[in-house]
Amino acid sequence: MNHLRHTAFLLLNLSFLASFAAPREKAISPNLFGIFFEDLNYAADGGLYAEMVQNRSFEYQPSDIDTHKNPGGLYNPFTAWTVEKTHSLCHVTIESRCPLNANNTHYAQIEIVSPGDAGAGLGNTGYDGMVVRQGAVYNFSAFLRTTAAAMPVDVQLVAGDKQHTVLAAATFTASGDEWRRYDARLTATASSDSAKLRVLFRAEGTVAADMVSLFPQDTYKGRANGLRRDLAETIAALRPAFMRFPGGCLAHGDGIANIYDWKRTIGPVEQRREDSNIWNYRQSFGLGYYEYLLFCEDIGAKPLPVLAAGVSCQNSSRRRGDGQQAIPMERMGEYVQDVLDLIEYCNGPATSTWGKKRAEAGHPAPFHLEYVGVGNEDHITPEFEQRYALIVKAIRQHYPDIKIVGTAGPDWHGWDFEHGWAASRREAVDVVDEHYYCSPGFFLKNFHRYDAYPRTGPKVYLGEYASWGSTLYNALAEAAYMTQLERNGDVVEFASYAPLLARIGHTQWNPDMIYFDSRGVYPSVNYEVQRLFGEHRGTRYIGGVVGVADSVASSCVRAAGGDLIVKMVNYGSRSAEVKINLSGLGRLPAEAALVVLTGSKNAKNTRDKPATVVPQTSSIAAAKRMTRTLPPYSFTILRLKQQ
Ligand code: AHR
Repeated sequence: MNHLRHTAFLLLNLSFLASFAAPREKAISPNLFGIFFEDLNYAADGGLYAEMVQNRSFEYQPSDIDTHKNPGGLYNPFTAWTVEKTHSLCHVTIESRCPLNANNTHYAQIEIVSPGDAGAGLGNTGYDGMVVRQGAVYNFSAFLRTTAAAMPVDVQLVAGDKQHTVLAAATFTASGDEWRRYDARLTATASSDSAKLRVLFRAEGTVAADMVSLFPQDTYKGRANGLRRDLAETIAALRPAFMRFPGGCLAHGDGIANIYDWKRTIGPVEQRREDSNIWNYRQSFGLGYYEYLLFCEDIGAKPLPVLAAGVSCQNSSRRRGDGQQAIPMERMGEYVQDVLDLIEYCNGPATSTWGKKRAEAGHPAPFHLEYVGVGNEDHITPEFEQRYALIVKAIRQHYPDIKIVGTAGPDWHGWDFEHGWAASRREAVDVVDEHYYCSPGFFLKNFHRYDAYPRTGPKVYLGEYASWGSTLYNALAEAAYMTQLERNGDVVEFASYAPLLARIGHTQWNPDMIYFDSRGVYPSVNYEVQRLFGEHRGTRYIGGVVGVADSVASSCVRAAGGDLIVKMVNYGSRSAEVKINLSGLGRLPAEAALVVLTGSKNAKNTRDKPATVVPQTSSIAAAKRMTRTLPPYSFTILRLKQQ
């Protein structure tokens, strides 16, 4: 009996030991976890771009909005504007006879017939009303010209109450019938969540107004033409290794005329020609390539711009799947040159044609571009393949050090996936961009997808992925999947959840990682997972550390500084016991930091209950061999400082 018990004990121990193969280490891409920014869901205008005036240049057009998708939602050059006349009289028209410049063709003309005591003019309600905070400073600017010898101008921020309580005010005098920029600074003496900007003219005469703009002074890093600080900081907290931008479908556009043209997004903002947005609104390009590159630099993310592969989105002109348009071959030379010019803009010396424009914008040093994306989940057609080959060849020829990220369709399998990969292998691009939005079950079932990927040829960029939902369960499915991305960090070069930002009330795509409105930022539980992976990233993967258990996915990585990080995801409804074996991994500290993200399966972080599921941090005693009980529906991280 004793003998039997002894044998059983030995067998048990052997099987326990067998589940711990000797630690296997391999390098992980230092770029693995990053972000994908697309001007979708009002992510740029009305979002990260801190401009508070909507339609500042009176360029909105009815054609910007697909009325099939948005019945009743119409745009026109006066969208978001109001005529302001209290005991006064004025006529406002939209004109284009004497524009500010050839790229900015519409402006408002205000004929002040009788200014009364208060003046008459324009109001702007911003994006769902402006949020003004007591004590905050706002920078106003506008281009004006007037027939009056001296036109007194009152700029006010007024509350959304019936009395239009004035929250901030500034005054200046405009003169001259030539366009001229005027600036004013306003300091708010009270707060409002539904404020309006008013520009009132206080003498008889005619005024033309364009590029009427208002920024909070407190932008991210205090930059002019800058970014919303709260949103930028929330993004920066992800510690993204890279940022892919500006899209997505936005990059290849709604038809070839709408392909994102980086050149029209740089230089003085009033000269950037606006365009419609494939997502059914307008893009001002105030947040353009220069600002994107600067933001990347500010947050320590490598820029990964995506350029169309000479074809537009296959969903162009409301044709689902077969709407792809190709730039005519005789115009491809010019298009390819635009791609090469972008690389020069980013990396060329300040004396080069395009490097000079970067320097003039305020950045003589290069942006150190390493990667360029060519194509976005395109339909793989002969037209695509021909143009793709042309662009790749030109980049290789002129910039052999630039790594090219190709594309493999909008799904995890199928025609575009197969043919996108085949074309990318043929062109020997460096990385291939895969996209898939699926059920949590997909992510949990395909937990070994990349284990079997070939280790030769292009690497993988999981450029867009998300499970369908914002619950803790969705976030855990993603976390489980991300442990395999770490395990396969030798073949998966980059990964980014998508979409990143969504303005509440203006979303074209759900779920999203970070929701916001003008008042605040409401990160999802999915964001918390992404943030934890960003904070606890590794440069080496170590296999065989966490024992196998039902409903548990795990990984162990070593951070650049030497810390050991163990991640364990229990996506099941019961607690799970796991064994952790850190022997052979060097001296360990007495304590490990413990981070746990847990809650009920369907818990969400929302605007009304923003911090329902957030990580809790504590510490536990560390040992070479540990057993931990993982709570149901939980993500646990152990971090052991290097000794
Ligand atoms: O992330 C949202 C959209 O999903 C992207 O624009 C596109 O690339 C994909 O279809």
